[in-house]
Amino acid sequence: MNKATRKAVIAGNWKMNKTPAETTALINEMKPLVAGADCDVVLCVPFVDIAAAVEAAKGSNIKIGAENVHFKASGAYTGEVSAEMLTACGVEYVVIGHSERRQYFGETDQTVNLRTLAALSAGLTAIVCVGETLEQRELGYTETLLKYQTKMALTNVSAEQLKNIIIAYEPVWAIGTGVTATAEQADEGNGFVREAIAEMFGKEVSETVTVQYGGSMNAKNADELLSKVNVDGGLIGGASLKAEDFSVIVKAASK
Ligand code: PGA
Repeated sequence: MNKATRKAVIAGNWKMNKTPAETTALINEMKPLVAGADCDVVLCVPFVDIAAAVEAAKGSNIKIGAENVHFKASGAYTGEVSAEMLTACGVEYVVIGHSERRQYFGETDQTVNLRTLAALSAGLTAIVCVGETLEQRELGYTETLLKYQTKMALTNVSAEQLKNIIIAYEPVWAIGTGVTATAEQADEGNGFVREAIAEMFGKEVSETVTVQYGGSMNAKNADELLSKVNVDGGLIGGASLKAEDFSVIVKAASK
């Protein structure tokens, strides 16, 4: 982490977990544990839990995010939710292009870009996910792929809007598998993302963008991962469903 030039952000990604009542209970449990953190703390929750999450997080340092957003403002898009709908509910962040959406729901680099632009226009902070599969890594394409995905996601994003962008490097082979990238692999992957940003916006600007690592980050390995200069925080799946574990990660990022 380089706190001199950028913000540390720990974001939970609850995926398809928790009812509204469970959301209230978990956030109430987390609030005292993460109070006073020296990093931004975000919980990205299912759409139906947003109202409960925003209410429970009121007056605390926890900010609420969604897990996806549509790129149109309104219209015949059954099952989708617009950026304006999210901001109207008190949402400040949104996860875009998570590998599960790319893998199971046909998300492409083009739609990731459109969703990112829509989120930024509405004033949301976009947490854009990039990451290689094991096959792509073994074939030696990690750098090429991470740079391509990053550049595609940031197409037509202005330098000013970049302030509301977080990139999460999440190797697909490390998500939900218990297999964490080594701290060196995380640092290297995050470094490729930062290089791609530098190629688009210049080196100085790239040093200001928060790049998270995600993929089986937990209470045990967070310290080591976050000690790397390019790892500015984490996107946390499984461990964000446990108040104690999540708070240990938040404390590691606060150092
Ligand atoms: P995990 O998920 O921490 O459970 O591996 C990370 C993510 O998918 O964002």
